[in-house]
Amino acid sequence: MSDQAADLVAALAGLKAEAEQAIRAASDGDALQRLRTEYLGRKAGRVTAILKSLPTLEPDARRAVGQAANETKAALESALAEAEAAAAAGAQAPAPDLTLPGRAVWRGAIHPVTAVTDEICGIFRELGFTRAVGPEAETERNNFTALNFPPEHPALDQHDTFYLGRGTLLRTHTSPVQIRVMEAYQPPIRVVIPGLCYRRDPFDASHAPVFTQIEGLAVDEGISFVDLKAVITFFVHRFFDPGVRVRFRPSFFPFTEPSAEVDVQCQICHGVGCPVCKGSGWVEILGCGMVDPAVFEAVGIDSERYTGWAFGMGIERTAMNRYGIDDIRQLFEADMRFHAQFVDAT
Ligand code: DAH
Repeated sequence: MSDQAADLVAALAGLKAEAEQAIRAASDGDALQRLRTEYLGRKAGRVTAILKSLPTLEPDARRAVGQAANETKAALESALAEAEAAAAAGAQAPAPDLTLPGRAVWRGAIHPVTAVTDEICGIFRELGFTRAVGPEAETERNNFTALNFPPEHPALDQHDTFYLGRGTLLRTHTSPVQIRVMEAYQPPIRVVIPGLCYRRDPFDASHAPVFTQIEGLAVDEGISFVDLKAVITFFVHRFFDPGVRVRFRPSFFPFTEPSAEVDVQCQICHGVGCPVCKGSGWVEILGCGMVDPAVFEAVGIDSERYTGWAFGMGIERTAMNRYGIDDIRQLFEADMRFHAQFVDAT
């Protein structure tokens, strides 16, 4: 091949590489059109110019250069056609509208009572307490007798309690699960027991005939009222506010001795006095006390060796306090929008 022909073949290879790079970089159909004219244009295309010069070459050179020029032309044609098709498809697709709002997600919600129950059990879990459960249909013996209720106690009255017949009733509190746990396990025991309870109460702003409690029970050697006070105070500070004041008031329950009720400084008025705390500055949150030896006797635990404490807390009241809900009946509504405003599941 002559020097001239070799130069032209090399020039074609250079043109091909250069054009292919430019085609890849071209941003739209107009840019591709300009490249088509520059390389393959009929009048002044750079590949076309070489093709046009073929008649001036020696026959051997003509064949070699002609073949290279036609191959280059075909390669660029197909690269251009492909790029033009891609550019046309891109131009047809509408640009994404970045101002459109996102698609709404269907969000679930957690019932305030469930959320509060889980939160309380979580705080006690950190202190070594396990969650336990018991049946809502309970024996008279577990609900009352083993808990040291005297036979003439008014809570046993047919008019106060939902009896199911033959010594069974709808439990009036979660305390009977204390009996079940102590009969099933030897100390040391540390449990929290959430669950539904039933009483023959009206259904009004502050009462419901079915409600949720959480029971707590700790039994071990050497447990004293100091442990009870420390654990309840720790819990209140964790659940409400680290600075909140706690008050233990002497009280009475058949299954604890001594017994106390625990008040927390009102979260609404911070102790000044408001309608929620009925002007007292305090809100009662739970009953508690040291397990009465008579209860240990009923379940066969040696009361000389073991001592323990227990508490019982109403959850609806606590949830109402936490979320500023003023009517307990709202917790029994099936309105998802009501629930969703407090605790989002996501
Ligand atoms: N069971 C009691 C009630 O429903 C609440 C209670 C008080 C539970 C003192 C306890 C306790 O475990 O020690 O009113």
